[in-house]
Amino acid sequence: MSVTVKVPAKVNLQLGVGPLRDDGYHDLVNVFHAVSLFDEVTVTPGPLAVTVAGASVEGVPTGPDNLAAKAVVRLAGHLGRAPEASVHIEKAIPVAGGMAGGSADAAAALLACARLWEADVPLPVLMDLAADLGSDVPFALLGGTAVGLGRGERLTPLSCEGEFHWVFALADGGLSTPAVFAECDRLRAAFEAEAGWPHESPDLLAALASGDAKALGAALTNDLQPAALSLRPSLGRTLAAGREFGALGELVSGSGPTCAFLAADAEHAAELAAALAEAGVARALAAATGPVPGAHVLS
Ligand code: C5P
Repeated sequence: MSVTVKVPAKVNLQLGVGPLRDDGYHDLVNVFHAVSLFDEVTVTPGPLAVTVAGASVEGVPTGPDNLAAKAVVRLAGHLGRAPEASVHIEKAIPVAGGMAGGSADAAAALLACARLWEADVPLPVLMDLAADLGSDVPFALLGGTAVGLGRGERLTPLSCEGEFHWVFALADGGLSTPAVFAECDRLRAAFEAEAGWPHESPDLLAALASGDAKALGAALTNDLQPAALSLRPSLGRTLAAGREFGALGELVSGSGPTCAFLAADAEHAAELAAALAEAGVARALAAATGPVPGAHVLS
């Protein structure tokens, strides 16, 4: 008996970062959008172990530090049973890429183990366990398009019309999320920029609700982008190339270093990906659409 869960990556359409809180987190206005880059997580009965396979999996821990292993332990603790599940992750989501790949695997492991152990865990409980594991984990269960407040874990689904076409420029190596948040704080202090309280962008919400890709492209914002660019200046060239090749909008995804480009349709996305590949500004290019559903069990 084994259970496989398919789980999507996310891109942040708006990442508004408020001041640093006493608990080390920042209050966010975080508009998540699930896109069709998927990891598949398979759990089978056995001693707790993690194996990982895929195109580029360097740096993914296979021990107890893997967030999927922590998810197994967390769910087992909640159910008062032994964390007996062997986890295999087929990775397509870039590692430490700002697309919540590790969070996706944790969400998938929660869902897969609940099924494997035939435990009836209501979705709100699963969401709470997910939030304990990381700020982005609940959204990987939910999918679609949603705004996350607080650390990003207090989610409200957003109305989103039609399908948007994306190109993702994958970078060599990752960026550490805590390091990028810390760089954001450092830059704000250095420039004496007061961290204001973030608000949802009305233009962004209207573009999503009407399915207007051009308006969405113009409304994309990421407060972490200056910090990601400060730590990885070469991303400036990647973003500029996408702009030059006619992307409707471009931004660093989450804490980076993946860059996201919005295209008008599938054909435009293919052209944009080819032009970016030709320009040599990325390790690899991936086209994807959004929104897509959150983590779900494959039959
Ligand atoms: O929640 P998660 O463990 O994924 O967060 C990783 C790190 O990212 C935190 O330790 C913190 O440094 C930073 N973070 C933050 N504010 C948030 C979410 C994450 O500062 N809202």
